[in-house]
Amino acid sequence: MNFSLKIAEQIEVAALALEQGALVAFPTETVYGLGADAENVEAVANIYRAKGRPSNHPVIVHVAPEADIRHWVSEVPAPAQALIDAFWPGPLTLILKRAPHIPDAVSGGQDTLGIRCPSHPVAQALLRAFKHGKGGVAAPSANKFGHVSPTKAEHVLEEFPEEVASRMIAAVLDGGQSDVGIESTIVDMSRLASHGPVLLRPGHITVKQLEQVLGVTVNAPDQAAPRASGTLEAHYAPSTPVALVAVDQLDATIAMLHAKGKRVAVMAYEAHRDTEKLQAWRQLNNDPIAYAHDLYADLRDLDHVQADIILVEALPTTREWQGVADRLRRAAFDSQGVLQAMLGA
Ligand code: TXA
Ligand code: MG
Repeated sequence: MNFSLKIAEQIEVAALALEQGALVAFPTETVYGLGADAENVEAVANIYRAKGRPSNHPVIVHVAPEADIRHWVSEVPAPAQALIDAFWPGPLTLILKRAPHIPDAVSGGQDTLGIRCPSHPVAQALLRAFKHGKGGVAAPSANKFGHVSPTKAEHVLEEFPEEVASRMIAAVLDGGQSDVGIESTIVDMSRLASHGPVLLRPGHITVKQLEQVLGVTVNAPDQAAPRASGTLEAHYAPSTPVALVAVDQLDATIAMLHAKGKRVAVMAYEAHRDTEKLQAWRQLNNDPIAYAHDLYADLRDLDHVQADIILVEALPTTREWQGVADRLRRAAFDSQGVLQAMLGA
């Protein structure tokens, strides 16, 4: 890909800033990441500080397509290599045994490491420029802990105005809107002998696709599965309460809330809603891939319209909807009971 001179220069400057221990926000095909040199413990600690994230939550290491992942992990079992061959570069994170010389700060003290090779051209250019492509950039999503992940550069600025102004975050690279729109699928491949492959976070790459490559079942997480903050019950949440509502309840719910003077925002599949009763509304796509692309930007927009509640039409329960259904369930987790309380009041 040919970049404009401006972004090419910004990438060079950002790579240098990373080498010097600074934080840099950058686009990936899933969501924007807040990156630091994965081998610089101080720099990684600054990610946690900026995000307000507990330090025992591991972050994902991002590597260039040419990178030698054996620098990072002690073992690449054949099934893990098969997933790499099938899905990298792309929105898939593998959990593998961490190489002994890699600081455990990146994996929150666990003996494993989350690693992925992103497909976004700006992310790849940054990774190739950083330490001549031999480094790794530790990067969680570029949002405060628990918030909705950013899918545009402007979302990152919205999350971190002070950190950008103070240059704690040295650069925010703009790569346009993230294509996928939800975070990478995470598969634990670190305990194959005892547990087989385990899905830690559903995403754009579906269980069905993983199973087609692996030829075995991908299991649900067990009690001993590695911790993942993206799997906390409450996560990915706007500040406005979110409630999931079945389609046959939606009109009645809107009418009741409206009658009680509540300001309601809605995300629904159907276009013909009583829009004058609504503060704002977004039409959802009935394709899960297109839905994921817009989900976080829509949630952020609706978070800004001063609504009392965001009602989201309930999703289909089929496997291809697993990724977005997971994010919406967590976004709504903290607001359980809010809708009932509003209707009862
Ligand atoms: O798409 C993505 O994965 C984005 C972009 C920026 O690459 N990153 C992202 O990072 O979503 P974050 O930190 O918001 O979520 C990473 C998830 C967390 O739930 C974390 O706990 C899990 O990956 N994770 C990372 N390393 C792990 C490890 N060693 N064991 C278990 N979970 C791990
Ligand atoms: Mg996150």
